[in-house]
Parts: sequence; structure tokens; C-alpha cells
Amino acid sequence: MAAEGLEVLLETEEIDAIVDRVAGEISERYDDGVVLVAVLRGSVPFLADLVRAMSIRSVVDFVAITPYTPGTGRVRFLMDITTDLTDRDVLVVEDIVDTGLTSAFLLGELSRRQPESLSICTFVDRPARRVVPVDLDHVGIQIPDEFVIGYGLDHKGRYRNVRVLATADTAVLERDPDAYVQELYGA
Ligand code: IMP
Repeated sequence: MAAEGLEVLLETEEIDAIVDRVAGEISERYDDGVVLVAVLRGSVPFLADLVRAMSIRSVVDFVAITPYTPGTGRVRFLMDITTDLTDRDVLVVEDIVDTGLTSAFLLGELSRRQPESLSICTFVDRPARRVVPVDLDHVGIQIPDEFVIGYGLDHKGRYRNVRVLATADTAVLERDPDAYVQELYGA
């Protein structure tokens, strides 16, 4: 029986098809290669699949930023890229765009470094909770207002390496953080 609140949205094969489609879009768009700026940690599985499915040259770099929590002030860098973005085509790679605060922060910061172009690619777009409007150039899947885990997305560090994307009930996970382990890892 399925665990309460857990529903697979994308099986691994469906994820692969989405990644191929997005990689195709990106490969068509940039003639002269692209700098991928991936947001740690959630975007790592998507980045790894995406960059290998792309047929153009690319440079990969990473940022880590403080998660936005209401009342704590602004988003800031925990780790910055070392790549020079001057006159480069730059694509930010995200796991999910939710409030849009991460994307808006990165667009603001990276645009000051004189890139030739600056765009955003996200595996998941959840527009329901958007606080800041952001233009998303490449989107894997748009989902309704539900918390998701798997394919890089976690709940308190768990479930990132699950090979499907699934909805999760955060109330269930607050009660028992391992509530979905058996269902998702077969353990
Ligand atoms: P933002 O609200 O658009 O700035 O997104 C901030 C970050 O919150 C994302 O990059 C994710 O790491 C995390 N996040 C937002 N929604 C979810 C979710 O449904 N599952 C897991 N992580 C999430």
C-alpha cells in the first residue's frame, strides 16, 4: 500500500525524457557554449544528467546560498563561483523555483558581472507560492502547490538520491522523517 501523502509524479524514464528535451533546448540556443551555474545542493542530480545530455561545450560552476526563512533577512552567498562571467552566456540551474527569491537574488548578483546573457533553467517550477516574479527560460515540469522530494529535492537532507520525483506530506515527515524510506528505497 502506498505511504500516506506519497505520490510518484515522475518515474525515472519520464525524468530522462524531460532532461533530454531541456538539454535539446539549451543545446540549440547557445552557439558558443554556456556557463552553467548550479545551485547547491538540490540541483546536483539534474545538473549531472543535463550537462551530459547537452551537445554543446559547457563550463560548470556552483553556488551555495542561505535558504530564505521569513524574518531572517536577505538571502546571501555561502559559496560563490570562481568562473569569470564577463561576456559569457550564463545559465542558472535550479532544482525547483518556489518563492523565486533564490532566482531573483542570483539574477541580481550575477548580472553585475557583465555576462553576455543570463537565464534560468529549473527542473521543477511551482508558481503557486511565488513571491518575486522571475522569467524561467527552461522548465522541466510545472507542478501544483505540493511539496516534492526526490531527484535532488530533500526534506531535511533526506530523499535527495531517490530516482523518482514524488509528492510528500510534510506533516507525515515531521512526525516521522523516515516515513517514506520503505516505499522509496524498498528497505
Ligand atoms: P525559492 O523559494 O524559489 O527561493 O527556492 C528555495 C529552495 O527551497 C529551492 O532551491 C529548494 O532547495 C527548496 N525547496 C522549495 N520547495 C521545495 C520542495 O517542494 N521540496 C524540497 N525542497 C524545496
